[in-house]
Amino acid sequence: MEPLSVIWDEAAFPLRLSPGDVHVWLASLELPLRALCHAESLLTSEELTRAGRFHFLRDQFRYIAAHAGLRVLSAGYLGIPPAEVRYAHNSHGKPFIADGHSDLRFNLSHSGSVALYAFAAGVDVGVDVEQIRVELADMQTARNTFAMDETACLLEMPAEKQAEAFFACWTRKEAYIKALGLGLSTPLDQFHVSINPGESVVHLRVDGKPAESERWCIRTFRPLQGYIACVCAEGRSCSFHFLQYSDPFLDRDRDESLRPIVIESEEGKHLNERSTGMETASRFKEMLQDEQG
Ligand SMILES: CC(C)(COP(=O)(O)OP(=O)(O)OC[C@H]1O[C@@H](n2cnc3c(N)ncnc32)[C@H](O)[C@@H]1OP(=O)(O)O)[C@@H](O)C(=O)NCCC(=O)NCCS
Repeated sequence: MEPLSVIWDEAAFPLRLSPGDVHVWLASLELPLRALCHAESLLTSEELTRAGRFHFLRDQFRYIAAHAGLRVLSAGYLGIPPAEVRYAHNSHGKPFIADGHSDLRFNLSHSGSVALYAFAAGVDVGVDVEQIRVELADMQTARNTFAMDETACLLEMPAEKQAEAFFACWTRKEAYIKALGLGLSTPLDQFHVSINPGESVVHLRVDGKPAESERWCIRTFRPLQGYIACVCAEGRSCSFHFLQYSDPFLDRDRDESLRPIVIESEEGKHLNERSTGMETASRFKEMLQDEQG
């Protein structure tokens, strides 16, 4: 059994995937302001409009960081500039590379200040990350969401283990439905995942579809303290690689001295503000001026 904790390796661009490889990337969504400005410049007007719909600036910034990260990584595999990557969505909202010639597949998940991306060549992938928040792991939600046997296993666990087991189950189910790309049209109580959060290799059973158990590799891991995640990829045997990039948006000539924004600190005081509807770019300029006095 693979360990739950993973070591995040650095990877060199351009990025390459061999058959059976699944690259799982970790990124922080708390970027320094200048890096955020650069990240924003990579997005399309449609992506910026979506970012602008978030009520809080913090969420706008996280959306920008997550989607610019997706562009930087996709571009690293495709060998084109990040702003030139074109995405389309299936009828359930799952994004894919619009270039019909590429076999690059990916999925994105974000929770709190963290994003995970999964990339593979020619096979479907899904990823889900959740911050473990004890107050959300309530058994009524489990009863309403999980299969009956999953809830029963959860209820048998010692109380102190239930929150992690709840989120392990949640991320396993979510990673599978995200790999399928069918969203919530997939009935959540008609497939079953193992519940024990300590098991990194996940067993899947789908009612009426026995072949599904062998069709997917599903791996649980702990990306960071306080988070749990799961990645699901099509294939009988997959080779998972855990990767991270450091500061992909920094303009290295100018930004060495910048510190990351820390939420709730004085420096991050704007982040809990409501959006004023002002263009994010103008807001960045104003905040940079504030910062420079
Ligand atoms: C996408 C979905 C499947 C997961 O959303 P989520 O867990 O809230 O959010 P995540 O951060 O993990 O994933 C969101 C990303 O998945 C991708 N996505 C969107 N639709 C998707 C789909 N149908 N399939 C796969 N990926 C999808 C997008 O890149 C999206 O990013 P964006 O919102 O920044 O554009 C969502 O449709 C959903 O509603 N989930 C159900 C929640 C639930 O009740 N789960 C029960 C689990 S047991």
